Amino acid sequence: MSSNLEKMDSYLRQYFSFQKLLPILTVDDQEVCEDLANVLCESGLNTFEVTLRTQVSLEVISKMSSLGNFVVGAGTLISPSDVSSAIKAGAKFGVSPGITPELLDECEKRSFPLIPGVSTASEIMNAYLRGFKILKLFPADVLGGAKMLKALAGPFPECEFFPTGGINQSNANEYLTLTNVIGVAGSWMAPRELIKERDWSKIRKIVKMSDWKI
Ligand code: 3PG
Repeated sequence: MSSNLEKMDSYLRQYFSFQKLLPILTVDDQEVCEDLANVLCESGLNTFEVTLRTQVSLEVISKMSSLGNFVVGAGTLISPSDVSSAIKAGAKFGVSPGITPELLDECEKRSFPLIPGVSTASEIMNAYLRGFKILKLFPADVLGGAKMLKALAGPFPECEFFPTGGINQSNANEYLTLTNVIGVAGSWMAPRELIKERDWSKIRKIVKMSDWKI
């Protein structure tokens, strides 16, 4: 593994050694940044993924990063230029729905910690052989959920996964108890509509940590 990849891997482990739930935030209005970050932080969540899916995504990453107490990652990274924009905005890590050699090259070149998305054994092999051991299994629920993760533990004992896609309050614990799951991610903790409505009390209720096996 190159020294850049080792550094990237250790940063990710540092970010996720205490936090096993990664909220995926799609934010339409940058004015909500501070309130949203504080509500999540009340429940011990200070590491987030902000998707690059709205007009203001990069501003949201910058704003949340500048608040000081938060580790903000950029999600939906698809091209090398997304990686550049995310780094420029202040993102500390990235998440992608899938892998391309160009995306992995760019992240490695820039020592930007990436959680690459995989959905097949072959994609896991491609990512793993490049030195990426923390992977996003997407879309986890559709692929077979906990059953698939148990099956992957055999051939890929060194890989750890962030199952994402179709995870919710009722099935998150099923994933969190698996030995090859480093954490679970999803939009269910702070759904886009609730963020739009600034319904902080509903979001607060969802992320109440006491319910999670972490
Ligand atoms: C992603 O951005 O990784 C997925 O859209 C998250 O899936 P979810 O909305 O089912 O949590």
